[in-house]
Amino acid sequence: MAKTAELIIDGKSYKFPIVEGTEGELGIDISNLLEETGAVTLDFGYKNTGATKSAITFLDGDKGILRYRGYSIEDLAAKSSFLEVSYLLIFGELPTQDQLDKFSNDIKNHTMVHEDIKKILDGFPSTSHPMGVLASLFCAQTAFYPESLDPNRSSEGVYLSIVRSLAKMPTFAAWAYKNEVGHPVNYPDNSLDYCSRFLKMMFALPAENYSVDPVVANALDKLLILHADHEQNCSTSTVRIVGSSKASIYSSISAGINALWGPLHGGANQEVILMLEQIKKDGGDTDKWIAKAKDKNDPFRLMGFGHRVYKNFDPRAKIIKKAADDVLEKLGVNDPTLEIAMKLEEVALRDPYFIERKLYPNVDFYSGIIYRALGIPVDMFTVMFAIGRLPGWISQWKELRENKEPIGRPRQIYTGQNHRQYIAIAKR
Ligand code: MLT
Repeated sequence: MAKTAELIIDGKSYKFPIVEGTEGELGIDISNLLEETGAVTLDFGYKNTGATKSAITFLDGDKGILRYRGYSIEDLAAKSSFLEVSYLLIFGELPTQDQLDKFSNDIKNHTMVHEDIKKILDGFPSTSHPMGVLASLFCAQTAFYPESLDPNRSSEGVYLSIVRSLAKMPTFAAWAYKNEVGHPVNYPDNSLDYCSRFLKMMFALPAENYSVDPVVANALDKLLILHADHEQNCSTSTVRIVGSSKASIYSSISAGINALWGPLHGGANQEVILMLEQIKKDGGDTDKWIAKAKDKNDPFRLMGFGHRVYKNFDPRAKIIKKAADDVLEKLGVNDPTLEIAMKLEEVALRDPYFIERKLYPNVDFYSGIIYRALGIPVDMFTVMFAIGRLPGWISQWKELRENKEPIGRPRQIYTGQNHRQYIAIAKR
């Protein structure tokens, strides 16, 4: 018998169907709540509210489970590649070798961007944060590919937009960095793999025979896999609600890039390193800063600890921590900031204050450390998150469109003035 939820308002009973997900999670379907009861729900930050049904990513915050299309993040991070995971997220199944080869080659054929993009880039001063440049260049694709504005675009046309998005994101990202450091941009070297191509565009200097360290490229590929999707997080929800108005994939994802930029979301990995550098500059006394973090009268809080969804540990953090250790050892990186991070981690994992509050190191804590070890500049950390999250945004935008979901339009509880008569200023 189908489960139902009962709501009693002013003595009147209302029943609503309960929907059950593939993994047994329950949702009360309140699609008719307002019509039947005259009331709406109130859920600041939508922490208790499901916005959709999705077959893309499953996570269990209590058990620390994260799966893309049913495959565990542990398996994918250890055995797959970012492009294979991107294909899985977007099209729902792991590709055959021929499908992956075609996908990779289609992407290679679109890594160049129109030369006029440089005119847009030149308008950004070197003080521009790379995330703002990235969001702008990504959205500018609507100007170069106006056919993408067609809300009823063919599946072939949508595929082309998907390939262009994945192909050009690294180019836009590297160019945003070059704009910041005042160096000439590099064109994509399609003889390289996805991550190596990006790293060469980022770091190669004119007339330099730049070679990518495979340790760095492999570590970056793993990091991108770990960031590829995370169900209905802030930026993905932004992509979905913008996409629900039938806005183009480029403008929807540009909105997601801007949402990710915030320090409470993708910007957290940058905040972690800034926090570690602040502690190092202050003399590196981690006990002092741990005490500050515990002091309710002190505004300082540890960045990179705890998570809105994971209650015990972030499965991605466990994988990244191991990758960080490996990379630092292979690269022979001796970073005093890292030593501070390891001390903070040690305390957070054994101190009852942090354990009781579920403040354990999350994905942002370790990703900032490994990006730094890879030579990625701090204000490019969130850009790296965006490159990784792109296939997730694409898959969620595509799912919303294929499921013909309605435009997103939440309601509110009004707390403003009651009706009042307008009085002309001369008579007030
Ligand atoms: C993410 O991966 O998007 C972050 O962990 C934030 C979240 O899921 O809320």
